[in-house]
Amino acid sequence: MQRNPNHTTICIVEKVIDETPTVRTLVFSDDVMSKVLPGQFAMVWIPGVNELPMSVMISNELGKAAFTVRKHGPASTALFNLKAGQQIGVRGPYGNSFDLKQGKILLVGGGTGLVPMMRLLTFMNPQDDVTVLIGAKTKDEVFFEDLANKLLTKNIHQVIVTTDDGSYGEKGYVTDMVKKLVDVNHYDGVYTCGPEIMMFKTVQYAHSKGLFVQASLERMMKCGVGICGSCCVGEDLVCRDGTVFDGDHLLSNPEFGHFHRNKAGIPEIY
Ligand SMILES: Cc1cc2nc3c(=O)[nH]c(=O)nc-3n(C[C@H](O)[C@H](O)[C@H](O)COP(=O)(O)OP(=O)(O)OC[C@H]3O[C@@H](n4cnc5c(N)ncnc54)[C@H](O)[C@@H]3O)c2cc1C
Ligand code: FES
Repeated sequence: MQRNPNHTTICIVEKVIDETPTVRTLVFSDDVMSKVLPGQFAMVWIPGVNELPMSVMISNELGKAAFTVRKHGPASTALFNLKAGQQIGVRGPYGNSFDLKQGKILLVGGGTGLVPMMRLLTFMNPQDDVTVLIGAKTKDEVFFEDLANKLLTKNIHQVIVTTDDGSYGEKGYVTDMVKKLVDVNHYDGVYTCGPEIMMFKTVQYAHSKGLFVQASLERMMKCGVGICGSCCVGEDLVCRDGTVFDGDHLLSNPEFGHFHRNKAGIPEIY
């Protein structure tokens, strides 16, 4: 019998991987979550704490579903602190996914926005020529560089890391590198997920060159299924209509890149 995605399924955390001092990957077994499309997310219940939206990826070595969490406030810190053997609840997967293009592909990720990018890499064709751009503030915050290289062993590829302070990789904002790359390359597809200002600039640069570009948005999510309205961006509900949107659609939305809503639904400028 098919599982109802709106029912919470209890899963056991089987392995915890330290990615950086503030980012961990939690691996768990779940047949439904291990088949998610790139860009889809789950609502994750941390018993006794809260429920959070999390992108889903697949652990490279184990082939199992995984969440990669950055500790932030109370709920994400509780998730970050879980140990192997402890329980989480998952419902979903929810949301649409990236439209896959073939050929010369550029992926741009920042922070935990790299999670859907890593899932997307597992859908690349061996003939695709793939560039992955990883943006971080400092060397300590860089993760998934090795994973990206491993996932792309069959492809012509390059993984470029930028750090704001130049402590690792190329110095500068990841969007400066996006601009350099789209100025001289014709990409068949550009995909991005991360801080909204980063996505806004990436979409703008790619769109100005006439490239196909999509971004996966993050908004405050409570229900995850299109009922509460907390994830609205203009007329769109990110949980129901996204999380993935085309660049031209996003650039016509006056909220994208400019403001989001806090837990009370009050707009806050980026
Ligand atoms: C589709 C989607 C996928 C996400 N994937 C990941 C991921 O893979 N890894 C990861 O670490 N984080 C991810 N996030 C963000 C993560 O859900 C929030 O950072 C987390 O909810 C913070 O909760 P908190 O209680 O620890 O922090 P709080 O102190 O309560 O809030 C800190 C900040 O986190 C954000 N936030 C808080 N609650 C929510 C919520 N319910 N929905 C969205 N944002 C919230 C707000 O910007 C808030 O200002 C994702 C968010 C969305 C919408
Ligand atoms: S989170 Fe409730 S409508 Fe999207």
